[in-house]
Amino acid sequence: MTREEVLDSVKANVENDNLVKHMLATEAIMRALGKRLGEDDEEWGLTGLIHDIDVELTDGDMREHGKLGADLAKELGASEEMAHAIICHNQEHGIPLETQLDKALYCADPLTGLITAAALVRPDKKLAGLEAKSVTKRFKEKGFAAGADRQQILMCSEIGLELDEFIELGLKAMKAIADDLGL
Ligand SMILES: [Fe+2]
Repeated sequence: MTREEVLDSVKANVENDNLVKHMLATEAIMRALGKRLGEDDEEWGLTGLIHDIDVELTDGDMREHGKLGADLAKELGASEEMAHAIICHNQEHGIPLETQLDKALYCADPLTGLITAAALVRPDKKLAGLEAKSVTKRFKEKGFAAGADRQQILMCSEIGLELDEFIELGLKAMKAIADDLGL
């Protein structure tokens, strides 16, 4: 599966532009994590890029979200490892996070929301001037971007990254595609 095929499929199945941007941001962080951990960064990136492809198709039904996504990914040629990460990133299914890829996707997913929210409260609403330490400060504010599950983000420790490093890596990765994210 090529990146182009995955992105075409994502765009064909997702109307919400912000959801597409969320998947692009997740891809960027997953690529950076793959590199950092010496894993297959292309496979990790594509897992991030496709992980929420079924959100609109399942109409937010959390009993289905992830299952359909994993099937669609497999149709496109995703590996079993990728499909597993996609299905278990929705922990409603009760499927344990097993591999490094599972855990990476699970913690990268909410980090995109925290970083995006931290950029949007800046006067310029841009990522460029946002510093990692500001994101860390926002992380500690419970009411800020409450949808970005802090415990989930902290799972980065399970793949060997401290929170500070994870935030720094995620921010850098998203800054590199700021134009695509409109941030
Ligand atoms: Fe997501």
